[in-house]
Parts: sequence; C-alpha cells; structure tokens
Amino acid sequence: MILITGGAGYIGSHCALEFIKNNEKIIIFDNLSTGHIETIEMLKKINPNIIFIKGDLKNLQEIEDVFKKYKIECVFHFASLSIVQESAKNPQYYYENNVMGSINLLNAMVKYKVLKIIFSSSAAIFGEPKYLPIDENHPKNPINPYGKNKLEIENILDDFDKKYNLKSIKLRYFNVIGANKKDLLGEWHDRETHLIPNIIKSAINQKTFEIYGDNYNTKDGTCIRDYIDINDLIKAHHSAYLYLEKNNKSDDFNLGAKQGMSVKEILKTTEKVLNQKIDYKISQKRQNEPSVLISDNTKANKILNWEAETLLSDSIKSACQWELKLQKKSI
Ligand code: UFG
Repeated sequence: MILITGGAGYIGSHCALEFIKNNEKIIIFDNLSTGHIETIEMLKKINPNIIFIKGDLKNLQEIEDVFKKYKIECVFHFASLSIVQESAKNPQYYYENNVMGSINLLNAMVKYKVLKIIFSSSAAIFGEPKYLPIDENHPKNPINPYGKNKLEIENILDDFDKKYNLKSIKLRYFNVIGANKKDLLGEWHDRETHLIPNIIKSAINQKTFEIYGDNYNTKDGTCIRDYIDINDLIKAHHSAYLYLEKNNKSDDFNLGAKQGMSVKEILKTTEKVLNQKIDYKISQKRQNEPSVLISDNTKANKILNWEAETLLSDSIKSACQWELKLQKKSI
C-alpha cells in the first residue's frame, strides 16, 4: 500500500488520483487544516476502497498507528503548510507543523521499517539565485522559514539514509499551476494567495488584480517564476516512484518547465485565454521573495525520462474551468 500524507490538498490529491487510476491501494492521511473533505469524497467516488484517515503528523501516535495497522511500502509526503509569507509571520507554527511533523513521520517509518519516501520539496530551498536556470547543485540559501523548513527536512532525510537506510527522492517544485484535465480536481485554498487563481478570481468577480511590486531587477520589473502544470508534475512523481522502486537509491530533482514568465506576462496570457481585459494595480512588494526562479530540468529529463509538456495557456484554461466550478460550488 502507498501512504499519501496531505492527500486532501492540491498536489497530494492529484497524486492520489493518479494512483487510483493505476489501481494501486492507497491510504490518505490528512488533518484537513488546509485540504478539503470534499476532495476525499470525490476521490472515493472513483474508488470507494481508498482509505482516508483524519490525522495529524504532529501527533506521533496517530501516524504510528497507521504503520502498525497497514502494510505500507512507500510514502508520498505532501502534508505541509506552504505559504511563504505566512511562514515569515509565524515561524513557530511552520517549524512545528512542517519539520516536527516530518520527523514524526520519519520516526514512524523507521520504527516500522518502511524505508522509501517521495518528498515534496520546493524551489524555495534555493533562495535568491546565483545563476539561472537553477540545477540540483545550485547553492541552497533559503530566504524564508518555509524554504528553511523544506531544506531542513531534506537534510534530515539524507541523515536518515546514512543511518537507517531510509531512501528518499526529493522533488523540488517550482510554481505549480493548473487542474486535472477532466475537471475533477484543482487548486482550492480557502485563503488564496497564488498568482493564477488570484488573476482568474479578479476576472470572474470584476475586481482589480494586485501585482506585488514592479521594481524588481527583471525585464518588466515584475517577478519571474517557472510555472509547471500539475498534470506534468504528477507524471514526474510516477517516474520518481518507479526509479526509487528500481534503484533503491536516494536522489533529488528540480521540477519546472525551464521557462521564466513574469507576473505581467502571466496576466497577459490569462487575458488572452479568457478573452477579457483584467484591471490591475501595482501594490507593495511581498517580503522575503526572490525576484527570479527558473528550473533546470536536465537531470529529471535524463534520469526520470520526464519532460514538462503542457502549454502555459492550457494550464491557465484548466485553472479557469476549475475556478468557475469552485465558485459555483458544483464540486
Ligand atoms: N503575485 C502577485 N499577485 C498575487 C499573487 C502573486 O503579484 O495576487 C506574484 C508574487 O509576488 C510572485 C508571483 O506572483 O512574484 C508568484 O506568486 P505565488 O504566490 O503564486 O507563488 P510563490 O512564488 O510565492 O510561491 C510558490 C509556492 C510556494 C513555493 C514557491 C517556490 O506557493 O509554496 O512557489 O518558489 F515555495
């Protein structure tokens, strides 16, 4: 069986769906602090046999009980708080939830001899780039607590490999966007902070969209990010899983589309997709954010035989369709 922590959230639920389609037996462990029970219900409609456990990684007993009861072969660890600005406002909450929660999970894994994990890491571990695109060897100097959380967990994973033979694949996501192509799942945060959902919401609700700063050292002054489609990202998880099964070796991969897009370019592309002008204004810069992040995918191309394929406009289209469904609450 495969254990998916955070399987009620955005990326975890898309991964769960992929395993359901492949007839794998899965258990979802999620405290529903940011994920949604409706997402679990949707997954259960496709396969009623999936097991959902409402539990919190901060509670060692709760996660140990899962390993005690079920024969788990591999863990996909998505459960995490993931808002960069929130992490700077409340580092205690972030370290407790993300780092301590992960330590409990890893301790339970070692205790029950489950020695394979795919870990959701982040481009945030790199901080302000020293060169572009960012490959796996790029220096790791995170500039916010969220990035530091993820790097800390990566370091713990390396030590757990040396000492306990726990093998991990760390997948460092750049900016994940889009929704399931059949409209079954998508990005759903009760307090939305992400760029593309915010632009779409502004368009649907006829509100002014806010660009956070236009005096970065970039071509048009707005931040540049590398946007990777969720469906492509999930394919990389599947390849990483097969790679880990086959080689039983720890490794890490940067996952983006190897293409930098500015906030203004994303706004323009969304306007084109929606065929609608979107009103915007320039607001204050966010604290603790790098000006540019672009991934070098060479290693994932070569070793995982993986490539980002989806067009940015198609990802935005799927995000729009999902957002409309969400706003109608027809989930
Ligand atoms: N932005 C706006 N207006 C908005 C929302 C975002 O201008 O309403 C800008 C941000 O300032 C940033 C860019 O759009 O320059 C992307 O912002 P997101 O909030 O969508 O994503 P982040 O780059 O801040 O963070 C994302 C993930 C993190 C992850 C990080 C890795 O949400 O979990 O990428 O770099 F750590």
